[in-house]
Amino acid sequence: MQTNETCVIVTGGAGLIGKPLCDYLIQHGCQVHIIDDFSNSDATNIDERCHIHCINLTNNEQTIETIMNIKPTIIYHLACHPYEGLSQFCPHDVSMTTYIATVNVVSGAVKCGTVKRFVNYSSMARYGSGHRKDNGEIIPAPFYETFIPNPEDVYAVSKVCSHFITNEKGSRRKNCRNNV
Ligand SMILES: NC(=O)c1ccc[n+]([C@@H]2O[C@H](COP(=O)([O-])OP(=O)(O)OC[C@H]3O[C@@H](n4cnc5c(N)ncnc54)[C@H](O)[C@@H]3O)[C@@H](O)[C@H]2O)c1
Repeated sequence: MQTNETCVIVTGGAGLIGKPLCDYLIQHGCQVHIIDDFSNSDATNIDERCHIHCINLTNNEQTIETIMNIKPTIIYHLACHPYEGLSQFCPHDVSMTTYIATVNVVSGAVKCGTVKRFVNYSSMARYGSGHRKDNGEIIPAPFYETFIPNPEDVYAVSKVCSHFITNEKGSRRKNCRNNV
Protein backbone atom coordinates (compact mmCIF):
# COMPACT_ATOMS: atom_id res chain seq x y z
CA MET A 1 0.00 0.00 0.00
CA GLN A 2 1.15 3.56 -0.71
CA THR A 3 2.61 5.73 2.00
CA ASN A 4 2.66 9.50 2.20
CA GLU A 5 4.67 11.25 -0.50
CA THR A 6 4.90 8.12 -2.66
CA CYS A 7 5.46 9.32 -6.21
CA VAL A 8 2.93 7.64 -8.49
CA ILE A 9 2.25 7.78 -12.24
CA VAL A 10 -1.26 7.02 -13.48
CA THR A 11 -1.39 6.67 -17.27
CA GLY A 12 -4.89 7.36 -18.53
CA GLY A 13 -5.50 9.17 -15.24
CA ALA A 14 -8.13 11.43 -16.80
CA GLY A 15 -10.31 8.49 -17.88
CA LEU A 16 -13.29 6.69 -16.38
CA ILE A 17 -11.30 4.50 -13.99
CA GLY A 18 -8.19 6.69 -13.81
CA LYS A 19 -9.88 9.75 -12.35
CA PRO A 20 -11.28 8.10 -9.19
CA LEU A 21 -8.02 6.18 -8.79
CA CYS A 22 -6.12 9.51 -8.79
CA ASP A 23 -8.59 10.94 -6.24
CA TYR A 24 -7.97 7.92 -3.99
CA LEU A 25 -4.18 8.24 -4.29
CA ILE A 26 -4.29 11.98 -3.56
CA GLN A 27 -6.47 11.33 -0.50
CA HIS A 28 -3.81 8.91 0.72
CA GLY A 29 -1.07 11.50 0.42
CA CYS A 30 0.59 10.37 -2.80
CA GLN A 31 2.24 12.71 -5.27
CA VAL A 32 0.22 11.89 -8.40
CA HIS A 33 1.41 12.40 -11.97
CA ILE A 34 -1.18 11.83 -14.69
CA ILE A 35 0.10 10.99 -18.16
CA ASP A 36 -2.75 11.33 -20.63
CA ASP A 37 -3.20 12.72 -24.14
CA PHE A 38 -6.92 13.44 -23.49
CA SER A 39 -7.85 11.53 -26.66
CA ASN A 40 -10.79 9.99 -24.78
CA SER A 41 -11.19 12.36 -21.82
CA ASP A 42 -10.69 15.92 -20.66
CA ALA A 43 -9.13 17.64 -17.66
CA THR A 44 -12.50 18.48 -16.06
CA ASN A 45 -12.74 17.48 -12.38
CA ILE A 46 -9.13 16.31 -12.11
CA ASP A 47 -7.91 17.14 -8.61
CA GLU A 48 -5.78 20.27 -8.91
CA ARG A 49 -3.07 18.61 -6.79
CA CYS A 50 -2.36 16.15 -9.64
CA HIS A 51 0.51 16.95 -11.98
CA ILE A 52 -0.67 16.65 -15.57
CA HIS A 53 1.62 15.57 -18.42
CA CYS A 54 -0.10 15.74 -21.81
CA ILE A 55 1.83 13.05 -23.67
CA ASN A 56 0.82 10.55 -26.32
CA LEU A 57 2.20 7.27 -24.99
CA THR A 58 2.67 5.88 -28.48
CA ASN A 59 5.62 8.30 -28.72
CA ASN A 60 8.53 6.24 -27.41
CA GLU A 61 11.04 9.04 -26.71
CA GLN A 62 8.59 11.43 -25.02
CA THR A 63 7.14 8.65 -22.88
CA ILE A 64 10.49 7.42 -21.61
CA GLU A 65 11.79 10.96 -21.04
CA THR A 66 8.66 11.91 -19.07
CA ILE A 67 8.85 8.83 -16.83
CA MET A 68 12.57 9.33 -16.24
CA ASN A 69 11.96 12.93 -15.20
CA ILE A 70 9.20 11.98 -12.76
CA LYS A 71 11.10 9.03 -11.21
CA PRO A 72 8.00 7.26 -9.83
CA THR A 73 7.90 4.45 -7.28
CA ILE A 74 4.64 3.02 -8.62
CA ILE A 75 3.09 3.09 -12.10
CA TYR A 76 -0.60 2.33 -12.68
CA HIS A 77 -0.89 1.80 -16.42
CA LEU A 78 -4.47 2.31 -17.61
CA ALA A 79 -4.16 4.29 -20.85
CA CYS A 80 -5.43 2.76 -24.06
CA HIS A 81 -8.37 3.04 -26.43
CA PRO A 82 -10.45 0.30 -24.79
CA TYR A 83 -12.80 -0.62 -27.60
CA GLU A 84 -13.28 -4.26 -28.54
CA GLY A 85 -15.68 -3.55 -31.41
CA LEU A 86 -13.72 -0.62 -32.83
CA SER A 87 -10.51 -2.64 -32.73
CA GLN A 88 -11.78 -4.82 -35.56
CA PHE A 89 -12.16 -1.74 -37.79
CA CYS A 90 -9.21 0.32 -36.45
CA PRO A 91 -6.66 -2.36 -35.53
CA HIS A 92 -3.73 0.06 -35.91
CA ASP A 93 -5.14 2.65 -33.49
CA VAL A 94 -6.13 0.17 -30.79
CA SER A 95 -2.89 -1.83 -31.11
CA MET A 96 -0.78 1.34 -30.89
CA THR A 97 -2.60 2.79 -27.86
CA THR A 98 -2.80 -0.56 -26.08
CA TYR A 99 0.26 -2.67 -26.93
CA ILE A 100 2.84 -0.13 -28.20
CA ALA A 101 1.93 2.35 -25.46
CA THR A 102 2.53 -0.43 -22.90
CA VAL A 103 5.92 -1.25 -24.46
CA ASN A 104 6.87 2.41 -24.11
CA VAL A 105 5.63 2.78 -20.52
CA VAL A 106 7.34 -0.45 -19.43
CA SER A 107 10.55 0.67 -21.15
CA GLY A 108 10.39 3.96 -19.26
CA ALA A 109 9.80 2.10 -15.99
CA VAL A 110 12.82 -0.12 -16.54
CA LYS A 111 15.13 2.70 -17.68
CA CYS A 112 14.05 4.95 -14.85
CA GLY A 113 15.19 2.44 -12.22
CA THR A 114 13.02 3.79 -9.38
CA VAL A 115 9.85 1.75 -10.01
CA LYS A 116 9.04 -0.82 -7.33
CA ARG A 117 5.62 -1.85 -8.63
CA PHE A 118 4.01 -1.77 -12.05
CA VAL A 119 0.25 -2.31 -12.15
CA ASN A 120 -0.96 -3.15 -15.64
CA TYR A 121 -4.73 -2.85 -16.22
CA SER A 122 -5.83 -5.75 -18.37
CA SER A 123 -9.34 -6.84 -19.39
CA MET A 124 -11.57 -9.89 -19.21
CA ALA A 125 -11.55 -9.62 -23.02
CA ARG A 126 -8.27 -11.55 -22.86
CA TYR A 127 -10.25 -14.71 -22.10
CA GLY A 128 -12.65 -14.30 -25.04
CA SER A 129 -15.75 -16.45 -24.70
CA GLY A 130 -14.01 -18.47 -22.00
CA HIS A 131 -11.25 -20.73 -20.86
CA ARG A 132 -10.80 -23.71 -23.18
CA LYS A 133 -10.04 -26.93 -21.27
CA ASP A 134 -7.98 -29.75 -22.79
CA ASN A 135 -11.18 -31.68 -23.52
CA GLY A 136 -12.52 -28.69 -25.52
CA GLU A 137 -15.02 -27.60 -22.86
CA ILE A 138 -15.33 -23.79 -22.53
CA ILE A 139 -15.57 -22.37 -19.00
CA PRO A 140 -17.37 -18.98 -19.10
CA ALA A 141 -16.98 -15.99 -16.71
CA PRO A 142 -16.10 -15.48 -13.91
CA PHE A 143 -12.50 -15.92 -15.09
CA TYR A 144 -9.35 -16.61 -13.09
CA GLU A 145 -5.91 -15.21 -13.87
CA THR A 146 -4.62 -18.78 -14.16
CA PHE A 147 -6.85 -19.33 -17.21
CA ILE A 148 -5.13 -19.53 -20.59
CA PRO A 149 -5.75 -16.40 -22.69
CA ASN A 150 -8.17 -16.88 -25.56
CA PRO A 151 -8.37 -13.44 -27.25
CA GLU A 152 -11.00 -13.08 -29.96
CA ASP A 153 -10.48 -9.50 -31.21
CA VAL A 154 -7.62 -7.05 -31.81
CA TYR A 155 -8.14 -5.25 -28.49
CA ALA A 156 -7.94 -8.52 -26.57
CA VAL A 157 -4.82 -9.59 -28.50
CA SER A 158 -3.21 -6.24 -27.61
CA LYS A 159 -4.09 -6.73 -23.93
CA VAL A 160 -2.57 -10.22 -23.91
CA CYS A 161 0.59 -8.90 -25.61
CA SER A 162 0.73 -6.07 -23.05
CA HIS A 163 0.59 -8.63 -20.26
CA PHE A 164 3.42 -10.65 -21.77
CA ILE A 165 5.72 -7.67 -22.44
CA THR A 166 5.15 -6.41 -18.88
CA ASN A 167 6.01 -9.84 -17.48
CA GLU A 168 8.97 -10.24 -19.79
CA LYS A 169 10.55 -6.89 -18.88
CA GLY A 170 9.59 -7.14 -15.21
CA SER A 171 11.00 -10.63 -14.76
CA ARG A 172 14.44 -9.36 -15.75
CA ARG A 173 14.44 -6.50 -13.23
CA LYS A 174 14.33 -6.67 -9.46
CA ASN A 175 12.99 -3.12 -9.43
CA CYS A 176 9.97 -3.77 -11.67
CA ARG A 177 7.15 -6.09 -10.61
CA ASN A 178 4.01 -6.89 -12.56
CA ASN A 179 0.45 -7.13 -11.29
CA VAL A 180 -2.29 -7.85 -13.79
N1 LIG B 1 -14.14 0.53 -18.05
C1 LIG B 1 -14.22 -0.80 -17.99
O1 LIG B 1 -15.29 -1.41 -17.81
C2 LIG B 1 -12.95 -1.66 -18.11
C3 LIG B 1 -13.07 -3.03 -18.05
C4 LIG B 1 -11.92 -3.80 -18.16
C5 LIG B 1 -10.68 -3.21 -18.31
N2 LIG B 1 -10.59 -1.86 -18.38
C6 LIG B 1 -9.26 -1.27 -18.57
O2 LIG B 1 -9.06 -0.21 -17.64
C7 LIG B 1 -8.29 0.81 -18.26
C8 LIG B 1 -9.02 2.14 -18.14
O3 LIG B 1 -10.27 2.03 -18.80
P1 LIG B 1 -11.30 3.26 -18.85
O4 LIG B 1 -12.64 2.64 -18.97
O5 LIG B 1 -11.00 4.19 -17.74
O6 LIG B 1 -10.92 3.92 -20.25
P2 LIG B 1 -11.01 5.46 -20.68
O7 LIG B 1 -11.05 5.48 -22.16
O8 LIG B 1 -12.08 6.17 -19.93
O9 LIG B 1 -9.61 6.02 -20.15
C9 LIG B 1 -8.41 5.80 -20.87
C10 LIG B 1 -7.58 7.05 -20.78
O10 LIG B 1 -6.38 6.83 -21.52
C11 LIG B 1 -6.10 7.98 -22.31
N3 LIG B 1 -5.31 7.55 -23.47
C12 LIG B 1 -5.70 6.73 -24.47
N4 LIG B 1 -4.70 6.56 -25.35
C13 LIG B 1 -3.65 7.28 -24.89
C14 LIG B 1 -2.33 7.53 -25.36
N5 LIG B 1 -1.89 6.99 -26.50
N6 LIG B 1 -1.52 8.32 -24.64
C15 LIG B 1 -1.95 8.89 -23.48
N7 LIG B 1 -3.20 8.71 -22.97
C16 LIG B 1 -4.04 7.92 -23.68
C17 LIG B 1 -7.47 8.54 -22.70
O11 LIG B 1 -7.41 9.90 -23.04
C18 LIG B 1 -8.27 8.27 -21.41
O12 LIG B 1 -8.17 9.38 -20.51
C19 LIG B 1 -8.02 0.37 -19.70
O13 LIG B 1 -6.74 -0.21 -19.77
C20 LIG B 1 -9.10 -0.65 -19.95
O14 LIG B 1 -8.69 -1.61 -20.90
C21 LIG B 1 -11.69 -1.07 -18.29
